[in-house]
Amino acid sequence: MLAELRNVTKSYANGDTSVPVLEGCDFSIEAGETVAIVGPSGSGKSTLLNLLGALDKPESGEVIVAGKNLASLTAEQLAEFRNTEVGFIFQLHHLLPHCSVLENVLVPTLARKASKAERTAFRERAVKLLEAVGLSHRLDHRPGQLSGGERQRAAIARALIASPKLLLADEPTGALDVENAARLAELLAEINRVENVAIVMVTHAPELARKMGRVLELRGKKLVESTGR
Ligand SMILES: Nc1ncnc2c1ncn2[C@@H]1O[C@H](COP(=O)(O)OP(=O)(O)O)[C@@H](O)[C@H]1O
Ligand SMILES: [Mg+2]
Repeated sequence: MLAELRNVTKSYANGDTSVPVLEGCDFSIEAGETVAIVGPSGSGKSTLLNLLGALDKPESGEVIVAGKNLASLTAEQLAEFRNTEVGFIFQLHHLLPHCSVLENVLVPTLARKASKAERTAFRERAVKLLEAVGLSHRLDHRPGQLSGGERQRAAIARALIASPKLLLADEPTGALDVENAARLAELLAEINRVENVAIVMVTHAPELARKMGRVLELRGKKLVESTGR
């Protein structure tokens, strides 16, 4: 088992009341597996990804990723966890506009202590990843010189630079046209095979969800098997 939510409850404060978003929610994903999460807007999909990526904490229940119970980690260990065990892709690419594509992919490694040899290895991996996402001819370009699809592909390379075991993608195709969205979902499926990284992808589009191995739906504050609309 790579990652697990056990009986997780999460709510947000809204004035004086607390509004539950997830209630008794269970989830698990094996190493190298791919899962799509679908569900209406506001059903808690981003909340669920944030819990898996240690960007947020549940009120009750457990989040266990790569053998670590996230509640037991110190702030420093959580930062290390986010930097090495998981990769994030969001709807918007969040690339730094003044850095080249290659530099952007290396950004997550900058905060880490690394020898000169390790820096060289990161750089080599960044080049290899950019090749894998079809951007080897764009290494020195700025994000502003890329198409929307190319920017998202650069964001995928950045998410993979630390060789995470789990890739969390929150509507990664949400800002793309139909054709580029299909290509990006295809690329994620290929990345899963090549890198053997497990992927949890949130999406609104059923045809993209079907490119993942399993489709789950957030319904009634819980994750259930998708009825496959
Ligand atoms: N930081 C927050 N503070 C208060 N309410 C929030 C916060 N984040 C999300 N919510 C609420 O929780 C619900 C689920 O949000 P979210 O997980 O973003 O849903 P989804 O990604 O499925 O659209 C929504 O009703 C949203 O308004
Ligand atoms: Mg969301």
